[in-house]
Amino acid sequence: MEIQVVAGGIQSAEDDLIVINLFEGVEMPEGATGAVDQAMSGAIRELIADGDFQGKRGEIAVLYPRGAIPASRVAVVGLGPQEQFTLESVRHAAAAAARKARDLGVKSFSSIVHGGGAGGFALEEAAQAVVEGTVLGLYRYQELKNKPPDRPDPERFTLVQFDESALPAVEKGAELGEIVAEAACLARDLINRPANYATPSDLAELAMEIASEFDTMRCQVLSEEDADELGMGSFLGVAQGSEEPAVFIVMEHNPGREDLDTVVLVGKGITFDSGGISLKPAEKMDRMRGDMGGAAAVLATMLVVGQLEIPLHVVGLMPATENLPSGHAYKPGDVITAMNGKTIEVINTDAEGRLVLADALAYAARFEPKAVVDLATLTGACVIALGRGMAAGAFYSDEGLLARLQAASQATGERIWPMPLYDEYLANLESMTADLANSGDRMGGVGTSAMFLKQFAEGYPWAHLDVAGMTFEERSPSPKLPAYLQKGGTGFGVRLLVQFLRDWAATD
Ligand code: BES
Ligand code: MN
Ligand code: ZN
Repeated sequence: MEIQVVAGGIQSAEDDLIVINLFEGVEMPEGATGAVDQAMSGAIRELIADGDFQGKRGEIAVLYPRGAIPASRVAVVGLGPQEQFTLESVRHAAAAAARKARDLGVKSFSSIVHGGGAGGFALEEAAQAVVEGTVLGLYRYQELKNKPPDRPDPERFTLVQFDESALPAVEKGAELGEIVAEAACLARDLINRPANYATPSDLAELAMEIASEFDTMRCQVLSEEDADELGMGSFLGVAQGSEEPAVFIVMEHNPGREDLDTVVLVGKGITFDSGGISLKPAEKMDRMRGDMGGAAAVLATMLVVGQLEIPLHVVGLMPATENLPSGHAYKPGDVITAMNGKTIEVINTDAEGRLVLADALAYAARFEPKAVVDLATLTGACVIALGRGMAAGAFYSDEGLLARLQAASQATGERIWPMPLYDEYLANLESMTADLANSGDRMGGVGTSAMFLKQFAEGYPWAHLDVAGMTFEERSPSPKLPAYLQKGGTGFGVRLLVQFLRDWAATD
């Protein structure tokens, strides 16, 4: 879909559909919506007066102007109550409108910049949110279906801005929104893609391809032999059971630029988690193709980092392997040795994420980073604690780093929630045979997993985001669910990380 920005009044747009908006409870439309209402001799006022439209979040009414304006349809989208209006409301409204456009079989549609006028947001932010909602709302995973979908996507989307002098801001926001949302869709693709199509080698190939697009970026794919030479016994322990070669992917934007701050992003890249010898139950095991959601977010973020030429030294680390049972697989009771020399007793082979991250976090230290942020679909316990799709659990060794992530979370609507890292969690990880066990009892399992990681995240400010409940949406679309989400991979973390890095680059 082509996205463009033009100046003018939306009531003059020649399109299959134009999109305007209303806050909940407004009886007298103003601004662009008022202009369309006037041109249609009060059709929108009548819609409201008759009680057919309340302006609830994501609510949509379609009107047929019958020649009163050039467009053939008008969609009024609800923004919800004005007191609760945020950029999330904008994304929600834009996504709902875009889906409606597709359902109607529309080829080209135009929209005003929700939130830019009465909403009170800067036009750049508002335009970014509209485009994000539009692109994310239209996302579908189709690549392995032979039959094309019943309704094709619209071909063109136009943002209409009344005030010509504000055009550059809207253009900038729209461009940013498109870049970031397309990257989130890439992460969604990687999560939805079956494990036999998204192997560790496939991820490595994609990382190489992305890096080759930018002069500023390089990518190194460490093989199992390389990992062995580095002493990554923890990562390799997990990889042992699979026939698919494991890879440790290292992407670097602005390598060697010592004048720039270094930020390392780490993503758990388990391309399929069967649990290994501690096998998972069969039900929903297919979902574990998404156990590389952390790596998908990091990979997609690196793409944006290259596109936006973010003035930071950004490193992306993605330990990627399957976790499978076999005659070669690591077993409960085995002791493996991580890169930092610590020995680990494998109590449960299904607690594999922390094992691959242990070596990645130890490896991260060589960059002497200002911050390391890891994203991992690490524990079911995190989902039990916070709920599905509610927030990522945020553990941290540095308050300042948490604050930066919280600011990015606020701006993007990708929620994180701070969690405690009590030293006493370590007691759950005592081992009879090794320095550390890889799992403890069920209670507080999310804290224990983070405490395990902390033993390897030494020498730099660190934050860990447990995204187990966030990367895969299980709910079907409903008015309660943001319309830019649909069943399947969410791309969670891409918008958050991009915002975090942009803010960092802007303030240091
Ligand atoms: N990948 C899973 C965690 C997970 C669960 C992600 C649900 C997404 C949705 C992880 O590797 C795992 O199996 N964790 C175990 C840890 C336990 C064995 C200590 C868990 O949460 O049960
Ligand atoms: Mn597991
Ligand atoms: Zn896992």
